[in-house]
Formats: sequence, C-alpha cells, structure tokens
Amino acid sequence: MEKIIVIGSNGLLGQTLINRLIKLNYKVYALARGCNRNQNNVNYTYNDVNITDKTLLEGVIDTIKPHCIINAAAVTNVDYCETHQQECDAVNVEAVKTLIEASNKHKAHLIHISTDFVFDGAKGYYKEDDTTNPLNYYGLSKLKSEKLFENTPISHTILRTILVFGYLPNLKQSNIVLWLLDKMKNKTPLTMVNDQLRMPTYVEDLASACISSLQTKQNGLYHISSSDMMNMYELALTVAKTFNFDTHFITEIPTIKLNQPALRPKITGFDISKAKKDLNFNPLSFSEALFQIKNKINC
Ligand SMILES: NC(=O)c1ccc[n+]([C@@H]2O[C@H](COP(=O)([O-])OP(=O)(O)OC[C@H]3O[C@@H](n4cnc5c(N)ncnc54)[C@H](OP(=O)(O)O)[C@@H]3O)[C@@H](O)[C@H]2O)c1
Repeated sequence: MEKIIVIGSNGLLGQTLINRLIKLNYKVYALARGCNRNQNNVNYTYNDVNITDKTLLEGVIDTIKPHCIINAAAVTNVDYCETHQQECDAVNVEAVKTLIEASNKHKAHLIHISTDFVFDGAKGYYKEDDTTNPLNYYGLSKLKSEKLFENTPISHTILRTILVFGYLPNLKQSNIVLWLLDKMKNKTPLTMVNDQLRMPTYVEDLASACISSLQTKQNGLYHISSSDMMNMYELALTVAKTFNFDTHFITEIPTIKLNQPALRPKITGFDISKAKKDLNFNPLSFSEALFQIKNKINC
C-alpha cells in the first residue's frame, strides 16, 4: 500500500486531502503543528510537527519512508508575509528545501502548491511558461520555492492555484466564501474591489489535481483553477445570490481605497489546458461549487 505524507494537514487543502486519500485506501500520514483539527481522525496517523524544525521533520519522514509527500503547508496570509518575511521564508522556502532533500533520499514523489501571485497581474489568463514578476513578499517566497526544484533530480509536480475556497467545520484560517457568508449572515456592510480579477478554485478540485498528480507522477508545473474569471465584487454578488442573501449590503470600490500592506496583482486567471490534458483536470464552475458548499452546510 502506498504511503502518503500530507504536510499542513490542518489547513483547508490539507484536511480535504486527508479525507479524500483515506477513502482511496492509501496509507496516510498527516503532519501539522499543534492538535489535529480534522474532525475525521480515523484510519490515518497524525504527527505534531512544526516544519521549520528541520531535524524533527527529517526524522518523522525517515521513520515513515513515504512513496509520496504532498506539501499543503504555507504561511498564506499575504499581508502577514509582507511584515513577517523571515517567518514566511522559513515555512514557504526553507522547509521546502528540507522536503526536496527528504524526497530525494526516499525516492518519493513531491507535490508542492504555489500561487497566481508569482505573476504581476498585468496580463491575466497566465500559462505555465509566462514570465513571473511577484508584487508582494508572499508571491516572491512562493517563486523562490518553485526555483528550488530547478535542477533537482526528484520526481515532482508543482501546482499553482488561485483563491482557494471550500467548507470544513474546523478551520483556523477562513477563506473568501466562508468569510463572505459570515459577513452576509450578520448583515455587515461589505466593500469589495472591482478591479482585481480572479478564477477562484474549489478546494475539492485542487485536491483532485493533487491526487491525479500522485497517481500519474506527472513531472513539472501545472496551473489549477476554475475557468470562471470574475472581479471580487462580482464574486461576492454570486455568493449572496446563491445563498439568498441581500446584495444591498455589498458596495464596489477600487483597490486603491483599501490601503493594504501588500500589493495584489490586478488580473490573474489561468490557462488550464495543460492540466486538463495531462492530469484529466475538470473543475466545477464557481456556481456549481457554491451549490456543493450550500448542500454541505445544510447537511
Ligand atoms: N488559500 C488560497 O487562496 C491560496 C491561493 C493560492 C495558493 N495557495 C496555496 O495552497 C496551499 C494550501 O493553502 P490553504 O488554502 O489550504 O491554506 P491554509 O488553510 O492556510 O493551510 C496552510 C496550513 O499550513 C500550516 N502551517 C503553516 N506554518 C506551518 C509550520 N511551521 N508547520 C506546520 N504547518 C504549518 C498552517 O498551520 P496552522 O493551521 O497551524 O496555521 C495551515 O494549517 C498553500 O501552499 C498556499 O500557499 C492558497
């Protein structure tokens, strides 16, 4: 039975992967810091590991001797990364170095997740070989992590993704859809930017891309998102309409009025044709994904 390590198993993607992999009968090892936040805690082994502790991380991986490692851990708060660059590098870059070395030692396939924020947002609809130019530290840290894979002999897949959303009952970090639903439920007035365009990614689709990468061992870089391009104001309106909330609380503003510490790219969005071909990637539309979430929340 193939042994799979999921790093960052307390996060949105990490928890989703654990739940999917155990159903597929893999021998699953979850690594995250602190207590296990996944409410489903049967049929896999949980290890409390801060991945910035190189010796501890290497020791746990050496004991497991995995066939595949999926790295879903990162410091993901873009504004926090801007002001905590060393901490961001320790997780988003240095720990990835350790994972590459461990994958090399155990001949394990390594799946790593990167971001649309490696681009400057001037063009949009990015292909894998388009020129990168991050505008903020989070994007730069992820680009540094991608570059670590250049000239490594290990079998690996890098999946870049965009604005990941989904529902799980016990998340520390919210995501755009859950954050909006919370505000809308409480009738909190919302200002949403109308000049940042994205193709949001349903976490179940991202997990499917990880599993396909694991099964096909495709080597290289892939773009993973939905095909629905929208600005953040339109995204909020779609969420409100799907969940039958009043749209009058939502106002559109330009980014310049937000005054955030980190710059954001204006237009991202991916050309996902390479992933469709090699990984059989077939994402839901944004609306279809929202209806799935609605069903899960009402269950
Ligand atoms: N979310 C997005 O919109 C988005 C967009 C593009 C790319 N991505 C990438 O997609 C991947 C998965 O993101 P996600 O949305 O699932 O993020 P998430 O929910 O924030 O999960 C990230 C996990 O990493 C863990 N982590 C951070 N530092 C750690 C450390 N030192 N040791 C162990 N674990 C640590 C966090 O632990 P704690 O729970 O303890 O904080 C968290 O559970 C990441 O690589 C992210 O950069 C995400």
